Amino acid sequence: MAVPLLDLGAQYQSIREELDAVLMEVVESQWFVMGPNVDALEAEIAEYLGVPHAIGCASGTDALLLPMKAIDPAVTGDGPGDDRRDVIVPAFTFFATAGAVWNAGFRPVFCDVDPVTFNVTPETLEPAWTDRTRAVVPVHLFGQMAGMADINRMAEERDAIVFEDAAQAIGARQEIDGETVMAGAAATVGAISFFPTKNLGGFGDGGMVTTHDDEIAERVRKLRVHGGRQMYHHEMVGTNSRLDALQAAVLRVKLRHLDAWADARRANACMYHERLADVDGITLPATADGNWHVYNQYTIRTDRRDELRAFLNDRNVGSGVYYPVPLHLQACFSALGGAEGDLPVSERLCNEVMSLPIFPELGEDRIDEVARTIREFFGAGPAG
Ligand SMILES: Cc1ncc(COP(=O)(O)O)c(C=O)c1O
Repeated sequence: MAVPLLDLGAQYQSIREELDAVLMEVVESQWFVMGPNVDALEAEIAEYLGVPHAIGCASGTDALLLPMKAIDPAVTGDGPGDDRRDVIVPAFTFFATAGAVWNAGFRPVFCDVDPVTFNVTPETLEPAWTDRTRAVVPVHLFGQMAGMADINRMAEERDAIVFEDAAQAIGARQEIDGETVMAGAAATVGAISFFPTKNLGGFGDGGMVTTHDDEIAERVRKLRVHGGRQMYHHEMVGTNSRLDALQAAVLRVKLRHLDAWADARRANACMYHERLADVDGITLPATADGNWHVYNQYTIRTDRRDELRAFLNDRNVGSGVYYPVPLHLQACFSALGGAEGDLPVSERLCNEVMSLPIFPELGEDRIDEVARTIREFFGAGPAG
């Protein structure tokens, strides 16, 4: 039985009538950029997450970039301001996290991650922190939130801003001081991606900035439309980072299904755990206490990663490697002076991680097939 890593068609077919209807409404209206659907999506996401501001933009990358520009006095024109230019980002994440920092004119400083959750912690942030640190970007990797209470406390003590990279984690949540806090609402600013493979994915690119900060919100609203609220009047140099009405219409439909899809992903993860927990040679993903993981990826570790992937591939079982190269060793950041051995956990994870199919429509038979094939590779015998 073939098992793809991802099957977006299955999701489309399951809600096809709802989606086709709203797509045709947008076509009939001929209102393609921003407008009522974008306004409504922003309000719905703000309510879902519990933040005062949710601002649509062109991608998750821009959802990181725009608020970073919004804290830069050189962009906003607010005097000399704060001259700290370093922003700490994990070395084990998608490139956009650091790329946005660089493109906003700040200097990415890479830190390591926890090998169990794949996320930054106060311990991994500490060695990268200096008096030049202006901000930190915890990434909620693969759909599990970083421990935000401790990170926020640390940043507050040092007067730094926290940008949550929640690109992979919409719908994830965490208990903080007895309250449930959603990914994207757990720091001053959050960034969400609507790339099609995300848990809430559009029919193209899209993103959203979320924030508790009125001033940052106001600036981001300007920066996404060339730096002004009023057409042809520009207070800052912004860019075109508007969200399409077609994307917003699709995302509004999908938002209604998001929690059910997260439940299905979580149930799939449980089934993998049941079938693979006793296999020597792999480490299954773990969830930190107080976290509600939404499994954008189900990522295992093994030091026989490439062999296992080839074995699965020969049996038509899809898998993916997120990510094969840590960011401090990327060619484009060589001027920052990163060297092999600097961030050993990230470097090791890049050699050991692989993600298995986890999409909501996967079903038990295909999970059985994936688990059976992995057990066969490790000579583990049938699941007990
Ligand atoms: C961790 C992380 N940050 C940022 C992004 C950027 O999002 P987008 O692809 O929508 O620009 C992604 C998406 O791939 C991501 O996974």
